[in-house]
Amino acid sequence: MADSRAIGIFDSGLGGLSVAREIMKVLPHEDLIYFGDTGRVPYGNKGVDVIRKYALEDERFLLSKDVKMIVAACGTVSSVAANTADGLPVPFFEMITHAAREAVSSTKNRKIGVLGTAATVASASHKAAIEKIDPSCSVLAQSCPLFVPLVEEGWCSPNDTVVYETVKRYLDPLLQFGADTLILGCTHYPLLEDAIRTVAGDVTLINPGIAVANAIKEHLIHTNIDNPSGGSHQFYVTDTPQSFQKTASILLGEALDETKVQQVEISAI
Ligand code: DGL
Repeated sequence: MADSRAIGIFDSGLGGLSVAREIMKVLPHEDLIYFGDTGRVPYGNKGVDVIRKYALEDERFLLSKDVKMIVAACGTVSSVAANTADGLPVPFFEMITHAAREAVSSTKNRKIGVLGTAATVASASHKAAIEKIDPSCSVLAQSCPLFVPLVEEGWCSPNDTVVYETVKRYLDPLLQFGADTLILGCTHYPLLEDAIRTVAGDVTLINPGIAVANAIKEHLIHTNIDNPSGGSHQFYVTDTPQSFQKTASILLGEALDETKVQQVEISAI
């Protein structure tokens, strides 16, 4: 039995479009509702209580749109506020578990590096998830606060000296540690994949968006709630859509139809 309700995706802002993009690729016939809290971004340098409050409000917004599933595309929310999904009436996907599973199956030397926001790194969420799967793995995490503004500026190429040097500086400790696998634990970081690969050389990069998109597909098929005949995409933001669209195309990988973007007031929900 198909379920034509949309998949709900939320993020602190635009970054989650990099996850939406992967979901669109593997599930082209699903309707998607994306909520980006662009008026309150960033979450990554905020305290846990604030992030939890925001996450609850974001989830409540998506539920008001009658979604069949909620995806926390935000690495920060997934790290410190995944328990806000306890009791949700729909399935919930976060960005840590599936990425951890993929990292464990790809590492040869059992040394895994994690890149994330300050809140994500402080939470040690990836370390906990990895050790649950394989306690013999060691994990080193590095916060990379300059990556988000670089990506939003459209500065992603390894040929750009600023990009190369910034990536090198953040990656150095992880490479010295000997990580053979790196988790790109924040929505924006897959956009820096080329630069990270150039600096890191022969390491495996795990994009949580791809891991989660595949897991969602499997879940929809196994539980018979896939939608064979949808494919529409709707976007809601808490700041003006104009500011959303400029950066949106960088993360989504294509231009965003402005008629599909609507501003909402989260406190009014
Ligand atoms: N979306 C956030 C994450 O993946 C990055 C931006 C922010 O700090 O809110 O952690």
